[in-house]
Amino acid sequence: MLLHCRAGFEKECAAEIQERAAEHEVFGYPRLIKNSGFVLFECYQPDDAERLMRELPLRSLIFARAWFVVLADLNEMDPADRVAAVLEHAELLPKAGKLWVESGEGDDYRSLLTFCRKFTVPLRQALRQRGVLTKAEKENMPRIHLFLTDNQNGYLGYSRSDNGSPHFMGIERLKFPAEAPSRSTLKLDEAIRYFLTEEQEAARLQPGMRAVDLGACPGGWTYQLVRRGLFVQAVDNGPMAENLMETGQVTHHMEDGFKYEPQRKNVTWLVCDMIEKPDRVAQLMGSWFARGWCSEAIFNLKLPMKQRYTTVCDCLNQLTEILDGSGVGFELQAKHLYHDREEITVYLRRRG
Ligand SMILES: C[S@@+](CC[C@H](N)C(=O)[O-])C[C@H]1O[C@@H](n2cnc3c(N)ncnc32)[C@H](O)[C@@H]1O
Repeated sequence: MLLHCRAGFEKECAAEIQERAAEHEVFGYPRLIKNSGFVLFECYQPDDAERLMRELPLRSLIFARAWFVVLADLNEMDPADRVAAVLEHAELLPKAGKLWVESGEGDDYRSLLTFCRKFTVPLRQALRQRGVLTKAEKENMPRIHLFLTDNQNGYLGYSRSDNGSPHFMGIERLKFPAEAPSRSTLKLDEAIRYFLTEEQEAARLQPGMRAVDLGACPGGWTYQLVRRGLFVQAVDNGPMAENLMETGQVTHHMEDGFKYEPQRKNVTWLVCDMIEKPDRVAQLMGSWFARGWCSEAIFNLKLPMKQRYTTVCDCLNQLTEILDGSGVGFELQAKHLYHDREEITVYLRRRG
């Protein structure tokens, strides 16, 4: 399998897939290049990669943004006719609704990605003529992935539309809203789009609902809530953007987010982007739910320089213990989103 992750997080992505695959009795070993933005997970048994893609939800993985099953290695493709080199393996591919020609992340892959974009056009046409790709793009069919490691080598395979990222290389591109006071705003915007369907967003983020934003300044996250019509208690010692205060939807509390207690306990949403030790934040989130102060939360866990995968697992386990111990039913998801850097985003929702 080939998994996409943020460049620099290959070790975490590799550790996670190896551990999670083993739970499904799929054994193998990861191969990775530092700062490449991808990991290859070599399964020992034939067909295990396909079984893993059927059984293990991509959404349950934190560090993998996208993935596909590799069906063929492409080695030393003839630069004069790369299309022919790919077509040699066409009979291995399922009938698909989409083609993605992709590569790694970061400076080393920038020019290769430009090539990928250009190469998509003739390859798509050839695959359509061969009957492997549908004439018009279809969302609910398998996708063909050609991942190039340079302009002559790569991996060919497919992903399932019911268990794969709907975005090219798992990247949700978002436009930065001019009125938002910080680029951090994109993190919460992506989180809402990733964790909630459009219907869930409409039902769970309704105008008039109350939210608390811990570590709110200058207000990028608050902006996303205000834009959706919510009333926000913004907690931070720093200053909030004037234009947000002028909406009349924001109350600024210059307080410590760890000590803040909402006056009225009718908060629907708790969001938190405080730069703090991740275990402290996880415990704080747990205590809000244990005390019944909110019913939904999106928060960041800032990652340390080392032992990042273990730290994430420990924090999520601590949070689970607090919630279980308080008899709170919950749904928990975590993801290293495209707009996250040295942090992951967690979604927590009260159940029942
Ligand atoms: C990454 S910034 C938040 C950016 C914000 N989400 C945005 O979109 O504009 C982190 C903020 O956490 C605040 N912070 C850190 N520790 C805090 C604490 N104990 N209580 C309240 N705020 C805290 C900092 O003052 C800082 O403004």
